[in-house]
Amino acid sequence: MSNILITGAAGYIGGSILAEILAKSALLKKDQIFAAVRSDTQVGALSKLGVTVLQLDLTNEEDVAENVARNDINIVIHTSSAIDPKTALYLITALSKQGKVSGKRTYFIHTSGMSAFYKNTGWPAGDFKDTDGVFETEKRLAASFPIRNTDVSVIEHAAAQGVTSFVVVPSLVYGRGSGEWNKLSVVLPVYVEAIISNKAVYKFPGNTKVSAVHISDLTVLYGQIVEKILQEKPIPNGKEGYYFGKAHELFFGDVLDKLAEAMEVRGLLADSTTRVYPDDASAAKILGVPEQFVQILWNSGDDIIPEIPKIVAWKPKWDKEHFFEHIDDEIQDVLDLGKAKSSLIDSLFKATRG
Ligand SMILES: NC(=O)c1ccc[n+]([C@@H]2O[C@H](COP(=O)([O-])OP(=O)(O)OC[C@H]3O[C@@H](n4cnc5c(N)ncnc54)[C@H](OP(=O)(O)O)[C@@H]3O)[C@@H](O)[C@H]2O)c1
Repeated sequence: MSNILITGAAGYIGGSILAEILAKSALLKKDQIFAAVRSDTQVGALSKLGVTVLQLDLTNEEDVAENVARNDINIVIHTSSAIDPKTALYLITALSKQGKVSGKRTYFIHTSGMSAFYKNTGWPAGDFKDTDGVFETEKRLAASFPIRNTDVSVIEHAAAQGVTSFVVVPSLVYGRGSGEWNKLSVVLPVYVEAIISNKAVYKFPGNTKVSAVHISDLTVLYGQIVEKILQEKPIPNGKEGYYFGKAHELFFGDVLDKLAEAMEVRGLLADSTTRVYPDDASAAKILGVPEQFVQILWNSGDDIIPEIPKIVAWKPKWDKEHFFEHIDDEIQDVLDLGKAKSSLIDSLFKATRG
């Protein structure tokens, strides 16, 4: 019998994965599901789901090992940090140790970020497939971007510890999360909040293409990987196991034009004319994010052509047209759920302070 631990289960992606796994009740029973969160209020919020909620600081290696062993965990879905390699490595070491005790095979599903594959973080320009030696390129470029370094550390450490690893790379994720705590993503909510508070729409020059995915499609991708693990069906893993969560493309300029129109219709904007950010420092101030992340997260795109998700029969339901039909939901979500409360923005500020 497998026991699964989801980290960052109070987060946008982790909480929505937990909801997806609970919805697919044929996969795992509630007593096989463990959710790691940080605060006691989050424990309270998630406990009503009937899964075991662990209050766990993932930077504490001893606590991580103890919780993995006590609950006989053999599958981890890690969503709490794409940047910090330490927490992932502690979990992998703990899984490996417990696998030796239980005799079960162990699996680590890591959550990375598409920014590792953007030109302006140093990834080579031009189209690339996930079957084109992504690991080797990440390894060569690991020192120049922390998320790449973490991906490589995860894959190498898991291989050394006998843990089967998978790296899921979400693109720009949109839509309301289905978790119990944070239901807001980052990039679009930050844009929406900035428009509301500045009463003006700013864009970067150009019309940058970015890959995107609705949260409900992304969680299905994780669910399908888990399903294959439980069925013991071999799927690409380790150095070949990159699962890019890209459903379709968007252009940032078009998204901002449509957001502006929808805001004007709602009376949140006097007029939908867009302006151009004078420079990155002003953009950072307007968006309320650290300047060094402005271009990376709010104006960059990738050229990935994903093939591997097809192997697990991933068929996203949301496309570009559907996104634009529902763009008003992105505004409503920010209005309903308050200020974007993903702790990602806090971690970006923390990262700038070193
Ligand atoms: N959202 C996107 O569009 C997107 C796209 C690509 C990649 N990603 C990556 O996916 C991951 C999850 O993103 P998200 O949008 O779900 O972020 P999120 O809503 O901020 O979720 C992260 C969760 O991890 C928890 N956490 C962080 N550090 C922890 C620690 N040391 N110990 C225990 N828990 C910890 C946070 O706890 P608190 O609630 O206490 O802060 C939070 O609940 C991130 O690594 C992000 O870079 C996100």
